Amino acid sequence: MNVSIQPHAADKTVSPSDLSAAARKFGILEMPSLDYTPEVAAATASIYDKVSHVIPEIEWPIFAPAIHAINRLKKERNAVILAHNYQTPEIFHGVADIVGDSLQLAQEAARADAEIIVQCGVHFMAETSKLLCPDKTVLIPDMKAGCSLAASITGADVRRLREAYPGVPVVAYVNTSADVKAEVDICCTSSNAVDVVESLGVGKVLFLPDRYLAQWVASQTDVEIVAWHGACEVHERFTGEELRAYREADPSVRIIAHPECPQDVIAEADFTGSTAKIIDWVKDHNPPKVLLVTECSMADNIASETPRVEFVKPCNLCPHMKRIQLPKILDTLVNMREEVTIDPLIAERARRSVERMVNLKH
Ligand code: 13P
Ligand code: SF4
Repeated sequence: MNVSIQPHAADKTVSPSDLSAAARKFGILEMPSLDYTPEVAAATASIYDKVSHVIPEIEWPIFAPAIHAINRLKKERNAVILAHNYQTPEIFHGVADIVGDSLQLAQEAARADAEIIVQCGVHFMAETSKLLCPDKTVLIPDMKAGCSLAASITGADVRRLREAYPGVPVVAYVNTSADVKAEVDICCTSSNAVDVVESLGVGKVLFLPDRYLAQWVASQTDVEIVAWHGACEVHERFTGEELRAYREADPSVRIIAHPECPQDVIAEADFTGSTAKIIDWVKDHNPPKVLLVTECSMADNIASETPRVEFVKPCNLCPHMKRIQLPKILDTLVNMREEVTIDPLIAERARRSVERMVNLKH
């Protein structure tokens, strides 16, 4: 495969100066052939074993060539692919080097020794990687992969909150923009939120932007929590009533919920935790039947490792996570787009809040 600076394949009139900085730095490649050859079938056979419960055999020739090409290109580019637990199985099992919840992805981004990070997740996750790895090139396959929580608050909102609550420290969920992270004292994820709040050693904190995560944290600590009014559009749709109906139909079912769910949902759950903690819980307990109250891909991704568990899925899709698809990941590696950049003045302040969280000793 040739590495050279060329106009984007779809637009021969693009001049080198129109290319992204990443494309100018690394060059763009030829789009590889996407034929389903015997070589591709053999090279992807072990991956198919992990996704055969969700992808019918007849459809594998549609996915396998892109998976094969992405896995070859990421080595050629010295790139690492980070994928959140909500990515679809062909991404999660097919092309990701590192999978995890928001905290694990942030920690792994900081440790990665590749030159390029391809973030298969949403924009705030790619920004977090860029904050922790300012010298690396961070690419996201779809710049529009947003998050209703991140969209619910701005840096100016945080400045107004600080005026209204002088002296009260501010904790921001990582599901926020760099602009917001630059205004807060420390970040947290759903897996360390209680520890982060308690690490501040104060009686009261401002917690943003997720009101449901804030309520869950408040139920786990004596620290007074003042919450912003954001919500995850995926988790806020679950109701306690629907879970009670599932439990009535089969009292043996174990209900596991993400803490972005409303309080009446969490009240019905046997366990509440981040996506990584949910995965660990299911693997440790191996219950016969589990109802996962979170994004749909979670159950699909765990199923191959927990064959004895039957998953009940009243799941909701995250439309932002689902913007990331194999053809876009391939395009990212071929054309070096789209590059995530952060204003250096904002980045410097936002990095402090993320690093303070990552460096927290438990
Ligand atoms: P986790 O940190 O639990 O993976 O959650 C991220 C997220 O966006 C859940 O909706
Ligand atoms: Fe944001 Fe909710 Fe999607 Fe997570 S599931 S990325 S919180 S919209």
